[in-house]
Amino acid sequence: TKLAPFVDPLPLPPVLRADQGTLVRVDMKETEQRLHRDLPPTRVWTYGGCMPGPTIEAQSGVPMRIEWRNELPSKHFLPIDHRIHGAEKDKPEVRAIVHMHGARVQTASDGYPDDWYVPGQSRLHTYPNQQDAATLWYHDHAMGINRLNIYAGLFGNLILRDAHEQSLGLPSGERDIPLTLSDRLLTEGAQLYYPVSGNSEAPWVSEVFGNAMLVNGALLPYLDVEPRRYRFRVLNAANARFFHLKLAGEPSFQLIGSDQGLLAAPVTKTRVLLAPAERVDLVIDFSSMAGQRVELINDALPIMQFRVGSGRVNDTSSVPAVLRDVPRTPESAATNQRLMTLDEYDDCVAEPMLMLLNGKRWHEPVTEKPVLGSTEIWSLLNLTDDTHPIHLHMVRFQILDRRPFDEGEWLASKTIRYTGPAQPPPPEEAGWKDVAQAWPGMVTRIIVRFDGYVGKYVWHCHLLEHEANEMMRPFEVVAA
Ligand code: C2O
Ligand code: CU
Repeated sequence: TKLAPFVDPLPLPPVLRADQGTLVRVDMKETEQRLHRDLPPTRVWTYGGCMPGPTIEAQSGVPMRIEWRNELPSKHFLPIDHRIHGAEKDKPEVRAIVHMHGARVQTASDGYPDDWYVPGQSRLHTYPNQQDAATLWYHDHAMGINRLNIYAGLFGNLILRDAHEQSLGLPSGERDIPLTLSDRLLTEGAQLYYPVSGNSEAPWVSEVFGNAMLVNGALLPYLDVEPRRYRFRVLNAANARFFHLKLAGEPSFQLIGSDQGLLAAPVTKTRVLLAPAERVDLVIDFSSMAGQRVELINDALPIMQFRVGSGRVNDTSSVPAVLRDVPRTPESAATNQRLMTLDEYDDCVAEPMLMLLNGKRWHEPVTEKPVLGSTEIWSLLNLTDDTHPIHLHMVRFQILDRRPFDEGEWLASKTIRYTGPAQPPPPEEAGWKDVAQAWPGMVTRIIVRFDGYVGKYVWHCHLLEHEANEMMRPFEVVAA
């Protein structure tokens, strides 16, 4: 069945103000949501009753407290693989814990995967918000099942603002809009379908790609805009899909921010690639498109439409040539270097595929113990055929470079022989990041300052199926 495109207005999640220092409460609950005018309602799990959950508005420097209540049903509606670590048969089926992706918080509020809790329980998390303006997001992180919980709908945005950004005159208010992208497989009855392997004992699959592209939880929505500048905060909240975005006709737009906030300067592009969990802030100037309908396209397929009005407007917003000071961290600042391999074991006979970081499983003792306040360089040696979006909790970092190396030589003798020059990140990846695309056949180097708090955190691949099947490790920040 072919659905009529662009008949539903783009949903905007309700705004939850957490910038007053007061306690706010968010309930996780099951509900039904219509993804398209002509579809029956779809069962989803939500924060606060909608998918995506409410857009939390916060102010840098103003701490917020959120009570996350688990009011989900006691049975899961998606297929649990009990072979996956943390999801064994003796564990409750429905477990949840919220992680604020990109936030610098104490470990007790970070959403450590083992800190899950069951329906009827709640957790109070404190977020100091001592960090620059950025588009962060929150999502489930319960050990062994967060790929299912997020797929069910447990994700939402946090917009953290600061005075510097607010002084720039960027498009704001109704012209500052979150676009949260995800993909889902839908059954004939428009219910969420999470694919399984042929082995009923081990239903885990290595990646999930949907045929329904959702923008803010809607299928092929439209947005009425005026012929002026808009700021869009684009988040890839998909389990495994990379989004390759452009506008029909390929007009250019400006990238002004990445994961951890504003870039040093705007970057003019006609396309953008977003790995799972990455964010990009872009400004589209519709003034030259008055009266037109412009599609936002992923790969070759439209995912939403902008309907540009034809009225005259006086746009006083601007995109300054300098957005913020983003000093490059010099390599000499690093006092420690670590080599981390990204591995895949594909022994289909003995057991299903397994992916590891540094050859270690989740439950093995912590091997990475950076000192609080110190700077380290992590070299991510990708020995697989996939790009893995690698995320570290609590910190922000910069990408130093990517460099091709000889995989065979590494496997034979554990030595790195580079086969080409190091490539510095393009300007849109040269800002502050919390996810780095580690490309196959490359050593991707990131430089990280472990600012924040001591305690246990995690780093992992943000392809949620990889993360679940051992591509996640703890690290512990220790006192100096
Ligand atoms: Cu988006 Cu462990 O996080
Ligand atoms: Cu991965």
